[in-house]
Amino acid sequence: MTETLKTIITAAELNEIVRGLGSRITLDYASKTPVMIGLLKGSFIFMADLVRSITIPVEVDFIRTSRYGMSDTPSNEAAVTIDTDLDIRGRDVILVDDIIDTGRTVEGVLARLRTMRPASIKLMALLMRRNAGVECPKPDYLGTTIGEGFVVGYGLDYKERYRHLPDVCVIEEGRGG
Ligand code: IMP
Ligand code: MG
Repeated sequence: MTETLKTIITAAELNEIVRGLGSRITLDYASKTPVMIGLLKGSFIFMADLVRSITIPVEVDFIRTSRYGMSDTPSNEAAVTIDTDLDIRGRDVILVDDIIDTGRTVEGVLARLRTMRPASIKLMALLMRRNAGVECPKPDYLGTTIGEGFVVGYGLDYKERYRHLPDVCVIEEGRGG
C-alpha cells in the first residue's frame, strides 16, 4: 500500500523549534555539562540537530526500548534493549524523545534512570499529542504539540520507512506502529 503524506511541520519550522530548545538548554545548564540521553531510533535526527544548537559542553548517549518484546502487541512496560554506558550518578540528565504519545515509554525509562541516582532529570520531547491524558508525563522542554494522526519524518517512521524525510508529515491513509 502507498500512503499519502501531508507536511504538518516544515524543515524550516523544525529548525526554528530545535534552535529554540537548544538556546534554552544553553541558558538553563550554563554552568553544567548535562548528559543528553536520546531514545532510539526516533530521536536520532532531533538529537543530532539539537546538540549542534547548544553551545555549552554536553555528553550524548542513547537508549533503545521495545514495547513489543517477544509478542506482537505492545506491553505497558518498555523493555530496555540497548542501555546507557554512561555513569549518570550525580549528573544532570535530559531524556530526549521524538514524540510522547501515551507517555508509557518515557515513564518507564524515567523510572529506570532515577534508580541510577542522577542529580537531576528533565524530559524533552520534540512532539506531544494535544489531547494527551492528564496522567501522561509532561515534558519540561517541548518542541510543539500535534493533533491526532500518525506522523513520520525527521526520524519518525511508519514500519521503518520515512525516517529520512526532512519535514514532519502525517500519514493520511494507513496506520500502524
Ligand atoms: P508512547 O509510549 O505511547 O508515548 O509511545 C511513544 C513512542 O511511540 C514514540 O517514541 C515513537 O517511537 C512511537 N510513536 C508514537 N506515535 C507515533 C507517531 O505518530 N509516529 C511515529 N512514531 C510514533
Ligand atoms: Mg520513540
